[in-house]
Amino acid sequence: MATTFDVARVRGSYPALADGHAYLDGAAGTQVPGSVIDAIAAAYRAGIGNIGGAFAASERSDAIVAEARRAVADLTGGAASGVVFGPSMTALTYRMSAALARGWAPGDEIVVSRLDHDANIRPWIQAAARAGAVVRWAEADLATGELPAAQYAELVGDRTRLVAVTAASNVLGTRPDVAAIAAVAHAAGALCYVDGVHATPHIPVDVSALGADFYATSAYKWAGPHVAAVVAGPALLETLWPDKLAPSSDEVPARFERGTLPFADLAGVAAAVEHLTSLTPGAASGGSRRERLLASMTAVEEYEMALFSRLLDGLGAMSHVTLYGKAARRAPTAFFTVPGLTPREVASRLAARGVNVWNGDNYAYELCGALGLEPDGAVRAGLVHYNDASDVDRLLAGVGELAG
Ligand SMILES: Cc1ncc(COP(=O)(O)O)c(C=O)c1O
Repeated sequence: MATTFDVARVRGSYPALADGHAYLDGAAGTQVPGSVIDAIAAAYRAGIGNIGGAFAASERSDAIVAEARRAVADLTGGAASGVVFGPSMTALTYRMSAALARGWAPGDEIVVSRLDHDANIRPWIQAAARAGAVVRWAEADLATGELPAAQYAELVGDRTRLVAVTAASNVLGTRPDVAAIAAVAHAAGALCYVDGVHATPHIPVDVSALGADFYATSAYKWAGPHVAAVVAGPALLETLWPDKLAPSSDEVPARFERGTLPFADLAGVAAAVEHLTSLTPGAASGGSRRERLLASMTAVEEYEMALFSRLLDGLGAMSHVTLYGKAARRAPTAFFTVPGLTPREVASRLAARGVNVWNGDNYAYELCGALGLEPDGAVRAGLVHYNDASDVDRLLAGVGELAG
């Protein structure tokens, strides 16, 4: 049964939306609901200490970390004891690539994709260079924005140690067939590192169904604070040894977490997961948080994709607009140019009308290079669960005025 998505109710939970702007920049970071702001403030108000101490404030921090791990595990379908926190997906991917590359030998191979954000490319290329490993490239079909999974049969072989691929392009929205790609990697004995930063806010995520040995996600893309997580199997993490301080924990996942965690922000991470769970209050009521999240994110996907059709139809009907990407399965993210204006000029003209969009390559550097869009990139307008038809119509009206 389809759940009705009450976007007016959802919007009411975001204080920042009261400024009247159309926030179509969610792909670069969403706004934060009051419940997340309150959870962060409440953690500080109650008093928090460092973890592992003998007193109540320290125990509160222990509890916050444990709950944040459970929340991200519920969001992704992973195990709480396999949730590694860090400051950003980029920082965590550098950390994981350094740990993984310790096991690589000269002549080993890795596969990266031209579709990916640079954070799931450069750390691997740099780690491969240090290990003497060979880098192979999966190419995007530039006309459609698809990342054909069939090419992985050629790219992956006996020497492949790792396949890094995105669950959704942060500019074209393309959602590659990660499960098929991971299956090829696994058949060759390689690991699959999935960038879930752009996908997580838009779809129900199941790391097992994706075949992701590692799944990276950033809470600031899904209504949370600036904290990121990598979700992996605890047994796999046990096999890896990152650089770490002598007295810091050898346990998994703490072994991978450098220094002191941002405890109050982690309270915000758990609150953000609760917020996603509550987007459709009736969905799977009575079920576990994981079940309610799956129902809620299914409704989010349905709602966003209907709104995205309105956006794409509108832009597609404008002869002065060039749209990039038309993958069959995609996140609600549009990437376009208006010939005669730089992407920055378009973004500024829209900003003057209270419409927030991003301009640039958005770090999809390899893809934008292949598309001939460097150095200026294009304009990105993305939807998240708090956007509504008026946001889309204001974008369309603003871009419409740029004709001629
Ligand atoms: C798809 C994708 N991957 C990775 C990143 C990097 O994430 P972080 O800012 O947490 O390092 C981003 C950020 O925009 C992204 O959109």
